[in-house]
Amino acid sequence: MKKLFGWILACLFSQWIFAQSATTGVSIIPEPVSVTQHAGNFILPRDVSISVPEGAQMKEIVMVLHSRFSVPTGGEVTLKHQGTATITLKLNSKFEDLIGKEGYHLTVSPHNIVITANEPAGLFYGVQSLLQLFPDQIQANQLQKGVKWEAPCVAITDYPRFGWRGLMFDVARHFFTKEQVEAYIDQMVRYKFNLLHLHLTDDEGWRIQIKGLPRLTDVGAWNVKKVGYFGTFAPPAPDAPRNYGGFYTQEDIKEIVKYAQDRFVNILPEIDVPGHSLAAVVSYPDLSCTPGADKYQVRSGERIMDWSHGAPPIALVDNTLCPANEKVYEFLDKVITQVAQLFPFPYIHLGGDECPKNFWEKSDAVKALMKREGLTNMEQVQSYFEKRVEKIVESKGKKFMGWDEILEGGLAPDAVVMSWRGMAGGIAAAKMGHDVVMSPTTYAYLDYMQGDPAIEPHVYATLRLKKAYEFEPVPDSVEPKYILGGQANLWTEQVYNMRHAEYMTWPRAFAISEDLWSPKASKNWDNFVGRVQDQFGRLDVENVKYAPSIYDPIINASVGPDSSIVVEMETEIKGLDIYYSFDNSFPDQFYPKYTEPVVMPSDASFMKVITYRDGKPIGRMMTVPVTELQAKAKHSD
Ligand code: ACM
Repeated sequence: MKKLFGWILACLFSQWIFAQSATTGVSIIPEPVSVTQHAGNFILPRDVSISVPEGAQMKEIVMVLHSRFSVPTGGEVTLKHQGTATITLKLNSKFEDLIGKEGYHLTVSPHNIVITANEPAGLFYGVQSLLQLFPDQIQANQLQKGVKWEAPCVAITDYPRFGWRGLMFDVARHFFTKEQVEAYIDQMVRYKFNLLHLHLTDDEGWRIQIKGLPRLTDVGAWNVKKVGYFGTFAPPAPDAPRNYGGFYTQEDIKEIVKYAQDRFVNILPEIDVPGHSLAAVVSYPDLSCTPGADKYQVRSGERIMDWSHGAPPIALVDNTLCPANEKVYEFLDKVITQVAQLFPFPYIHLGGDECPKNFWEKSDAVKALMKREGLTNMEQVQSYFEKRVEKIVESKGKKFMGWDEILEGGLAPDAVVMSWRGMAGGIAAAKMGHDVVMSPTTYAYLDYMQGDPAIEPHVYATLRLKKAYEFEPVPDSVEPKYILGGQANLWTEQVYNMRHAEYMTWPRAFAISEDLWSPKASKNWDNFVGRVQDQFGRLDVENVKYAPSIYDPIINASVGPDSSIVVEMETEIKGLDIYYSFDNSFPDQFYPKYTEPVVMPSDASFMKVITYRDGKPIGRMMTVPVTELQAKAKHSD
């Protein structure tokens, strides 16, 4: 009793103390709705008992608790299904509206931990938060010596802002194996993402087995391996081996779906039509309006579009399905029937983006279709196609979704719009009463560079972490009920392997997870980047790659007096010092420190630059060609 009294007193006193120092020692992404820290720590005993409700949905939760509290700690974990334990997980007997289907309460006291939720998903997310309270090494897959296995005493109440918290993984441009997709799911659920959008088909590959259409995967899943800057490759020789790529069998898909379901993740399948369909056209040339399509090859990264006139692009080969060909709708019926059976998620994404129209313009069949249906332009032709596809999708009991181009020429009656060309398409669709998922290039494109082109693997655009953190999925002008949520998209033209997929995803997906889970009012960039850096330690333990681009300077240039180039630099996060040189040597903390705009010496060839924090190098050594500074200056004019 005396002990209990002392503990209550300590708690009251400590709450007073910690109210002033916010959440010292608590560093969770995404930021929970409410965290109250108390004095003291939970010290993990060697032998941990866990009490967990029975049920198939608890299997993964038990696995996570079991592995994390035994493998790195060397402890013993015993499981029971009733009563209390060191770690107790409980399902509410009465549904608590505040926390909904995915929320939880987590209480860490000196001697025990309790997580309560309405549903298993909430318990799963409570466990993810709990793990982030322990030292980084809790994520290790080997025994860790000398770690104090402690977690701060806290009371957390937490629930998501949006039900759709997604990441898109393009497994079409470069194929990623079933195991790699599962590893990606493992990573995303730690940050409470609940949706994986698989971009399954494109010009470079068809990745899902469709029974009765064997050429889609015998032929359509394979191209010629090339490396370098994708999109600029020379066309492969006609006899070059087409053995690069792969596909998921229907058994693979079932396994991926189950793996995701066990971790409370839905899979949104995307079959991208009528554009981006070269792999399908090569497999079944009858699907094209264009004579000679039987000579086409699955794309290996050679140039097939001319973007110099803007969107839609001018296709150099016809990568579209023919909207005027009944065989196309029969084909899609077959594909969608099987996709609907394989993926339990209620939505199927049918693409619709970037569909070139120049071959349709030349097609007699399309001209006849226009006459018959009273269509006056190519946008209406695409809209005719989308409306027919929507009917097929709905006939399978699913909801039809597409990229925002499906608005052009008239939106199909019940279509759900995924807005990628900024927010405008999403706003327009929501105003028409359609559901929307926001995934704008401006905030949520994970294929873009995360920092300066002088240091990042080259892509045509940049999206910094800070910008991703500014993503607000609900614009003022729309009714929030139409915004299902948001997602970030990892296109993989320039992503050849899993390590680079991770690099492009993290830390920007931290920002997206927080944009989609945490209350809007709790946004705080400085606080967030502090927690991002804490998570880096965790990713290091897990051997997950991430971009350290927040440590590299943002470099701008302008034209100064006498046509000189003036270089201005800043950093995305506070507390970094920038050192630079123009004499080709490697700067360090004894070199000039950047304090104000610098005039570039007229004969310099390179600027080298590096950041330091607390006297230690933290950024990467950047070599910026003068030509790039000149280009930046020209651009700023
Ligand atoms: C897209 O990025 N083409 C949807």
